[in-house]
Amino acid sequence: MLNMAMVLITTTLMILLLCSPTPSVAILIKRFELPEPVTGPESLAFDRNGEGPYVSSSDGRIYKYVDSTEGFVEYASMSPFRNTTLCDGFADFSVGQAICGRPLGLGFNHHTGDLYVADAYFGLVKVSPGGENVTRLFGPDNTYPSTMFTDGLDVDPDTGIVYFTEASTNYQFKDFQTLIDSDDKSGSLLKYDPRTGEMTVLLSNLAVPSGVAVSRDGSFVLVGEYLANRIQRVWLKGPRAYSSELFMPLAGRPNNIKRDSTGQFWISVNNFLRSPIFQRRINFPRGVRVSENRMILQSVFLIAEYGTEAASEIQEYNGTLYSGSLQASYATIFRPFF
Ligand SMILES: *[C@@H]1O[C@H](CO)[C@@H](O)[C@H](O)[C@H]1NC(C)=O
Ligand SMILES: *[C@@H]1O[C@H](CO)[C@@H](O)[C@H](O)[C@H]1NC(C)=O
Ligand SMILES: *[C@@H]1O[C@H](CO)[C@@H](O)[C@H](O)[C@H]1NC(C)=O
Repeated sequence: MLNMAMVLITTTLMILLLCSPTPSVAILIKRFELPEPVTGPESLAFDRNGEGPYVSSSDGRIYKYVDSTEGFVEYASMSPFRNTTLCDGFADFSVGQAICGRPLGLGFNHHTGDLYVADAYFGLVKVSPGGENVTRLFGPDNTYPSTMFTDGLDVDPDTGIVYFTEASTNYQFKDFQTLIDSDDKSGSLLKYDPRTGEMTVLLSNLAVPSGVAVSRDGSFVLVGEYLANRIQRVWLKGPRAYSSELFMPLAGRPNNIKRDSTGQFWISVNNFLRSPIFQRRINFPRGVRVSENRMILQSVFLIAEYGTEAASEIQEYNGTLYSGSLQASYATIFRPFF
């Protein structure tokens, strides 16, 4: 049975490789292991000194990678009164996460050194330099009580404006399976301006908006719709400002989107294919690099690193490619094989 599974997975991967433009597979270069039993570095960020990666994690904390000797150390906790008995290394995520928090999207403001976090339960959170102060800016206990599931985030490197997604106002992150089996379109893309404290909804009625990334010149922002297998674009400047359009349909579910150093985007895409033989869905995680002009430039399968588990983020930083996932206990450096 195992051999048949391998044959099936290999065959499907071959077909996917042949069907994708500029396909490749990822080779593992290095793994950054989280302290046991923590998992799920869903998103990664680097600070203004190039230190990190900082990662979000399953136990409600942000970890910072120091070096190969120290590994990851705690940087900040999403919960202001962290119950360490419950939260440190808890086993039942469905119970603990709503209390301990579950940071997802991360992004630094490199002018101020603040780290912005999209926490699934606590909303938009700001962590001051050094991880000292943790402030909730948008969430259940603020003026926007509808928040249920905050997910993706990006910070405009010039203006410091934060773009983030509210995946759903009907379901929480712990009910993710129910959410994706639903036909939910209650998600939205929001904008937070730290200079005025103003919060604006840019686009609503989205089918589980996941990742978000602003363009290099700040003229538009991309947002992925997980359930609709597509990326939408919202213009921020020019004659089309505040109108939206389809940026790109995808053969799979988009998760985080990251702008690279040249202004292109890495989109994490997971292709869940239903296998008639095994009566279950098999996933092919990959990173897709696209240009601002909607060209697919590269497609890298991460199957050797994640098997058929989903990858959540692909990010290029200073010429190196990193990946994160919701399930794995590590973040990864990889390079495309060809
Ligand atoms: C970027 O990479 C170069 C070459 O690998 C290295 O010398 C430099 O220190 C890196 N910069 C940062 C900020 O990590
Ligand atoms: C912390 O969590 C444990 C386990 O759920 C619980 O027994 C305890 O009462 C909690 N402590 C506080 C201060 O809430
Ligand atoms: C953290 O908050 C305290 C109290 O509001 C303040 O005095 C301190 O300057 C803050 N630290 C940072 C790094 O923002």
